[in-house]
Parts: sequence; C-alpha cells; structure tokens
Amino acid sequence: MLNAYRLDTLSHSNNLHLTYSFQIYVAALREDAFRDDPYFRALVAEVPGTVVTPSGEAAKLVGYAMYYFCYSPFVRRVMYLEDFYVETSYRGRGIGTSLMKEVAKIGVENNCNKMQWVCLNWNDVAIKFYKKHGGKDVTVEENWHLFRMDREELISFTKP
Ligand SMILES: CC(C)(COP(=O)(O)OP(=O)(O)OC[C@H]1O[C@@H](n2cnc3c(N)ncnc32)[C@H](O)[C@@H]1OP(=O)(O)O)[C@@H](O)C(=O)NCCC(=O)NCCS
Repeated sequence: MLNAYRLDTLSHSNNLHLTYSFQIYVAALREDAFRDDPYFRALVAEVPGTVVTPSGEAAKLVGYAMYYFCYSPFVRRVMYLEDFYVETSYRGRGIGTSLMKEVAKIGVENNCNKMQWVCLNWNDVAIKFYKKHGGKDVTVEENWHLFRMDREELISFTKP
C-alpha cells in the first residue's frame, strides 16, 4: 500500500518514464493521498533494491496502480482504475497482472459491482493486456463515449 516514502519514489519514477508527458508534483500527490478523505489510493510493486525504506527494507519501486471508488446508479459502487504502470525492464513478469488483480480484489471486498478504466487507442500493449484479462472495450461494444470539461471550461460553464 502507499505510504509517504513510496509516494515520493512513485512520483519520481513517474516523472522519469516517457510514456506520459505531464508532470506530477510530489507535494500535490502527497496532499491528495494523505487527506482525511484521500482523493486516490494506490498499490505499489517493489523488488529487492538499494533504497532503504523507513521500515528498514531495501527496495526498489517498479510499478504502481492508482485507484478510487466511484458510483453508478445502475450497479452501485464502482472501482475506478486510474493510473497503472510497470517499469519497462520489469514488464512481462506478471507484475501488472498482480497489481490489477489486487485492485480488483479490493473492489470486490468493498462492494464494487464493476471496475472501470480508460485506455488510449494506440496503446496496443495495454489493450492486449486488458482483453487477455477479460476487459470489455465498451466504446466498441456498447458505443460509450468519454466526455470531459477541463477546469477553464468548467469555470466558464458555471458562470451565469
Ligand atoms: C500494461 C502494463 C502495466 C502491463 O504490465 P506487465 O507487468 O508487463 O504485465 P504482465 O507481465 O502481467 O503481462 C504482460 C503481458 O504483456 C506482454 N509482454 C510480455 N513481455 C513483455 C515486455 N517485455 N514488455 C511489454 N509487454 C510484455 C505479454 O502479452 C504479457 O502477457 P502474457 O502473460 O500472455 O505473456 C505495462 O505494459 C505498462 O506499464 N505499460 C505502460 C503504461 C500503460 O500503458 N499503462 C496502462 C494505461 S491504460
């Protein structure tokens, strides 16, 4: 599970990997993760390594899965798998499957009737991975479209 040490490592790791172009700030992640009502939760995958954690283990963070709970009037509680990543040189060893299974298990144990996530259409590795594990592409199969308003649009929308 996530703690402050791991969050710092996670943020660092995320800034380094090239898949995502945006920056994640440690202070913002820390604030959002460790509120009384955390905005997100996360699991991390570690292998034996050289960084000594506060609990005295020597570990290296190689992957993470961020999640939070949301709600649908049709199925009630829903697990939302947000960000999901395994370091390139550790892929293909089952770490991604373990992380995703663990998030799914937390969902089942917490009354979720569905797990949901999005994936970009060029991400062939992730699409293959999700389909192999039984994920349905609901854009293709059920014609769902993802809509969004960013903050500036939200502000403008809320103005009279
Ligand atoms: C999707 C992702 C998390 C999977 O993690 P992983 O640890 O490689 O997952 P697993 O080892 O459990 O399964 C890997 C599958 O990818 C393929 N694979 C095998 N070796 C691989 C390698 N070296 N690199 C990438 N994929 C590999 C295989 O299809 C394997 O399935 P198999 O069990 O049938 O052989 C990882 O590829 C990743 O971090 N991608 C970049 C971030 C991303 O796209 N996240 C999802 C956003 S929607």
